[in-house]
Amino acid sequence: MNFQMNFRWLKRYVPRGLYSRAALILILPVVTLQLVVSVVFIQRHFEGVTRQMTRATAREVQLLIDRLPGPDAVLPPDLIALAQGLEIDVSRVAAADIPASSLKRWYDLTGAIVDASLRENLSDTRRVALPDDYNVHVYVSTAAGLIDFHFDRRRVSASQPHQLFVNMVFFGVLMTVIAFFYLRNQLRPIKRLAEAAEAFGKGRSVPYRPSGALEVRAAGSAFLDMRARIDRQIEQRTLLLSGVSHDLRTPLTRLKLGLSLLDSDDATDMLHDVDDMQRMLDGFLSFTRGAGDVAPEDTDPCDLVERIIRDSQRAEIPVTLGDATGCDQGRVMLRPLAIRRAVTNLIDNAVHYGNRAEVSILLTEKSLRIRIEDDGPGIPADRRGDAVKPFTRLDSARNQNRASGVGLGLAIAADIARAHGGSLRLGESEKLGGLQADIVIRR
Ligand SMILES: Nc1ncnc2c1ncn2[C@@H]1O[C@H](COP(=O)(O)OP(=O)(O)OP(=O)(O)O)[C@@H](O)[C@H]1O
Ligand SMILES: [Mg+2]
Repeated sequence: MNFQMNFRWLKRYVPRGLYSRAALILILPVVTLQLVVSVVFIQRHFEGVTRQMTRATAREVQLLIDRLPGPDAVLPPDLIALAQGLEIDVSRVAAADIPASSLKRWYDLTGAIVDASLRENLSDTRRVALPDDYNVHVYVSTAAGLIDFHFDRRRVSASQPHQLFVNMVFFGVLMTVIAFFYLRNQLRPIKRLAEAAEAFGKGRSVPYRPSGALEVRAAGSAFLDMRARIDRQIEQRTLLLSGVSHDLRTPLTRLKLGLSLLDSDDATDMLHDVDDMQRMLDGFLSFTRGAGDVAPEDTDPCDLVERIIRDSQRAEIPVTLGDATGCDQGRVMLRPLAIRRAVTNLIDNAVHYGNRAEVSILLTEKSLRIRIEDDGPGIPADRRGDAVKPFTRLDSARNQNRASGVGLGLAIAADIARAHGGSLRLGESEKLGGLQADIVIRR
């Protein structure tokens, strides 16, 4: 637990996608390994080797220095012969001709060690020049004056240590690229499964066939089984409810007809009851019709909501349009009929439990929010979860004298929001004081 707490900040810097995470898992060890190997190898190996080679060469130079004549004498032939045998060029130089500072290229990894080792072993070294890959000049003050000892660079350090780097980077990149392609093939089935699951959550069945690694395939098969079972259940529920509702309609209509022929107060009350029953059946039917049966289409949400409000106003329902923000943000994939049913249900509730309703729209780049507010009593926070369950009616005391509903209005609205990949959120209206119902849909 503590461990998790401490590393939570890291989450912000870690990529979120499966693909980039997998790439990170792949690259991080490779890069770390390469760095560690090169640092250890260059430090321990190249430095040690360079130091030993330089010391050996310095001893040879020292051998020559010990045999140098006085300041003005010419260099004796046996010394020249010895120097040739050792493959070292010996020549006098003027103080003005030596470079002003030690010469070394920045990428010369072992140069600094050559320089330091030479100075350490030849106490009177004035300058060390390493102009290229092939030449070393050591300028030493000796009994014979300032002498330039010139020899091959390959005598003091292993040649071209950066070749190791080049090889490592090249093969590192090559292997990473190959691994990338393998990785992508492995991750594609997971992505496809996620897409199929997401589409199903929104009420669409996209074709899907399990593929990929064993575990992914197992998850895919499990998903297919689950999808089939849910589809079957929805189908059964729809059949059952619509069958019952439909079959009850005919006798109810007959009953109504019979009652309307009778002429008594009791008959009028019973006629009301029959009307109520018919309304409930209509509720069942619209619930079973569900939301996921038609394909979503490209819709202008502001236009849709405005039309719903206008239609309600024509039916003399006290509803107004509030703020409509972001209507220039384009269109959204919606099922217009379903959205109309959801919004109408919420408006019905608002004017049923309150006196008036106000609808507002907020469209942003990421989401669409349709908000319905009213001035009624609202729903206490701890009852909101119950209110959206099918066939649940709250607090029957407070709406005793109103026509009774079935308890499906909020359930249908929530179902429709979910079928669009969104949700129905209930809250308290700041503006009107009653219930605030938001249909929030991700774009
Ligand atoms: N705007 C609202 N203000 C206060 N209470 C509400 C509001 N909307 C819903 N409720 C409460 O939530 C319960 C469930 O609402 P829902 O719309 O699902 O069913 P209903 O309105 O009772 O019946 P139906 O809509 O199916 O005719 C209602 O019984 C009511 O108590
Ligand atoms: Mg209702």
